[in-house]
Amino acid sequence: MSKIWVIPSEKCIFAETENFIVMRQKLVVFTGAGISAESGIPTFRDANGMWGKYDAMKLASVEGFEEDPQAVLDFYNARRKNLLEVEPNHAHRVLADLEKRYDVTIITQNVDNLHERAGSSKVLHLHGELSKVTSSRNRLDPNCIKEYPLDVPIQLGDKAADGSQLRPYIVWFGEYVDGMELAAYWVQQADIFVVIGTSLVVYPAAGLVDYAPSEMPKFLIDPNDLKGGLPTGFQHIKAKAVEGVDELVRRLEELEK
Ligand code: OAD
Repeated sequence: MSKIWVIPSEKCIFAETENFIVMRQKLVVFTGAGISAESGIPTFRDANGMWGKYDAMKLASVEGFEEDPQAVLDFYNARRKNLLEVEPNHAHRVLADLEKRYDVTIITQNVDNLHERAGSSKVLHLHGELSKVTSSRNRLDPNCIKEYPLDVPIQLGDKAADGSQLRPYIVWFGEYVDGMELAAYWVQQADIFVVIGTSLVVYPAAGLVDYAPSEMPKFLIDPNDLKGGLPTGFQHIKAKAVEGVDELVRRLEELEK
């Protein structure tokens, strides 16, 4: 026989089964390039952003890859190598630490692995991962998706399991974002929703903010005002991620009082 108590003052549910289990509030965090900026990975659309220097359509599209695969591989090989030279920052670490108090799910648009390296245990990469490779014939073929050492460049002629040219496991512009359905479900089910360091201009990912129920506490950490304005119902913590996460923790403590 299992018993369940809901203790409103604690705002969490305690369930007693054969083993004692504590269910925590669900904190869903949606991150973008801004959270990794202080680790030394440039964002895309700020001054000095990646898409100011490079042509996104040439380097992040299937058409670009077909036209000049070497240029695309060079671009991603450099980013893959760079990942070995950067470290998670305070913002990544605070989110990992919040797992002591919340059931934390990270939904990230970032292709780096800094959330995992900081210790976050539940991370969904909406736009792929630099540490993996896949087939250029069928990006989502599970037989072809595999970890690939970051210090080994992907070269022309390297083959996936289906015999096609190996490519980075990255969602390029125009490609299907296969994690969206699960991400939207998690946002709908959340108790608290936090958005950090994304311009919210790339869809469908940006549309996740619309799945958050209106009564849910919602926070957005970004040092800048977003071009599209603050999404409805969000408290804006106007700071860099490394500072904003400390303010977020203070506000979460307030919610618990
Ligand atoms: P953007 O470069 O579009 O937006 C970065 C956001 O981070 C902006 O709102 C900045 O104000 C904010 N920012 C800058 N520095 C920050 C800091 N230190 N702390 C917190 N926020 C900071 O990046 P994304 O929104 O992540 O897609 O871009 C979305 C997608 O566009 C990326 O996933 C990528 C790109 O094309 C793919 O690669 C498929």
